Amino acid sequence: MTRLRFTSPALPQIAVLPLAPRNSSPNPRLTSLFHWSERGAYGDAKYPGNCSGQLIKDLLLYFRPTSVFDPMTGSGTCRDVCDELDIPCTSKDIRFGFDACDEANDAGIGPFHFVWLHPPYWRQKVYSRDARDLSTAPTFTYFLYRYEKLIRNCVGVLAPGGKLAILMGDYSDRETGYLPLVFHTQRLCFQAGLRQRCTQIIRFQHGNSSSWKTYKSSFIPGLHDVVTIVERPC
Ligand SMILES: C[S@@+](CC[C@H](N)C(=O)[O-])C[C@H]1O[C@@H](n2cnc3c(N)ncnc32)[C@H](O)[C@@H]1O
Repeated sequence: MTRLRFTSPALPQIAVLPLAPRNSSPNPRLTSLFHWSERGAYGDAKYPGNCSGQLIKDLLLYFRPTSVFDPMTGSGTCRDVCDELDIPCTSKDIRFGFDACDEANDAGIGPFHFVWLHPPYWRQKVYSRDARDLSTAPTFTYFLYRYEKLIRNCVGVLAPGGKLAILMGDYSDRETGYLPLVFHTQRLCFQAGLRQRCTQIIRFQHGNSSSWKTYKSSFIPGLHDVVTIVERPC
């Protein structure tokens, strides 16, 4: 019998990245692969589902917006990056009573040139017991219903030509199965009249607590999530 041999990546491996073409980008380090492991001293690295401030910084250095809205700020990673770059940022969260899925809350705010949106990946991490919290949606259908409202509210506060960057990842739900949340993100954006501005950005997920666990079941580990960048037509 043939013996199959695998190298088991028990420790982080070094991967060779493709060479990026030179161009006139104001931030040449930003490519479709965000692989940096250092998140920067922004927000709180201990906040569940926090993201890299370096990623947000790279996007802001590329798009150079003059105003930013972060309706699901969590530990405030985006706000801290904006403070450093001296960009006015409106930062909200259900933790502070702001329901980003309720369009009544958007009255009188905006328009913004850039919206950073990092929603819960449905119930992969549950953030509160608040029924308005996206992570507490009792069914996937209801999650998508609320997610659509969220995206449409972001469109409502975007200036013409403004950009919406959404960080989202697929996940495998114990009851509902594999959920292609990145696909639904694109679908809902297109249905809301937005158009994709550029390549999606694959963010390597360094520092996931699950990476250090051993599972009895067999699956292909997902080690990334995705930033989709869409634009409101002028
Ligand atoms: C993935 S976390 C954001 C983490 C953030 N990017 C950071 O680096 O800390 C998602 C956030 O969405 C918030 N949230 C969930 N439902 C919400 C809603 N309906 N309106 C506003 N915020 C909500 C949660 O409280 C949580 O802080």
